[in-house]
Amino acid sequence: MKHAVVTGAAQGLGLETCRRLLEAGHAVTLTARTEAAIDAGLADLGRPALLDGAVLDVSDDASVAAFFAARTAPVDILVNNAGRIYGAYEATFDNTTPADMLDALDNNAVSAYRTIRAALPGMNARGWGRIVNVSSGLGSLGDGMGAGAVHYRVSKTAMNAVTLIAHNAARPGVKVNSVCPGWVRTALGGDAAPRDIATGAAGIVWAATLPDDGPSGGFFRDGQPIAW
Ligand SMILES: NC(=O)c1ccc[n+]([C@@H]2O[C@H](COP(=O)([O-])OP(=O)(O)OC[C@H]3O[C@@H](n4cnc5c(N)ncnc54)[C@H](OP(=O)(O)O)[C@@H]3O)[C@@H](O)[C@H]2O)c1
Repeated sequence: MKHAVVTGAAQGLGLETCRRLLEAGHAVTLTARTEAAIDAGLADLGRPALLDGAVLDVSDDASVAAFFAARTAPVDILVNNAGRIYGAYEATFDNTTPADMLDALDNNAVSAYRTIRAALPGMNARGWGRIVNVSSGLGSLGDGMGAGAVHYRVSKTAMNAVTLIAHNAARPGVKVNSVCPGWVRTALGGDAAPRDIATGAAGIVWAATLPDDGPSGGFFRDGQPIAW
């Protein structure tokens, strides 16, 4: 049994990731920005003994510091799932601002840097850890950058850089990967997405529970490598 922390976990892929990690026998901390969101998530999962909840706003230094200062259990598995879409395909150079870009970078990429710098030292000291940055194919430089989703794309590309740097800072036994869940029917993905939440979450849980001979420093969808 490992101790997992999932960010932005009151709904969507984060909530399903919590469910599956619990089913796999792990202790899970469901985190979200508000007590109300946490309570809804805990209720959805049936409040099992191995589940708890905590406030964590990954865009807020003080919130991240308070979460890790209050934590008594180790963080063996960290799933950086929290994210926002910032207008998706209709967000272009023409109708967005540098302030929006900075906000997206803060919320979707600096966020992962914040939690990893808090969690990685303990993982390195214990010689075991799994970090999953929930990224997106829209952040893939190799897969073609379209003209839309300008903030989201840049923020997920930056998140992927955090993945690789953290991988290089990780000691043996600690694995750090980016995962694209595919286009999934969530509040963020919308109703037109072809994938259900279970399918999208499966690839996240795969990376969160990799065996000792599993990969690190990669970008994956459905457990298969994809282009950075
Ligand atoms: N759905 C897709 O097609 C798709 C595709 C590729 C990648 N992804 C990624 O998958 C992850 C999960 O998205 P989802 O599809 O499950 O969407 P979702 O249902 O909208 O869930 C996203 C969650 O992130 C939370 N969040 C955002 N900013 C936060 C912050 N600063 N601190 C804490 N929580 C924060 C949101 O909470 P609030 O209500 O408080 O904002 C929300 O609960 C995201 O990183 C997303 O970019 C999704």
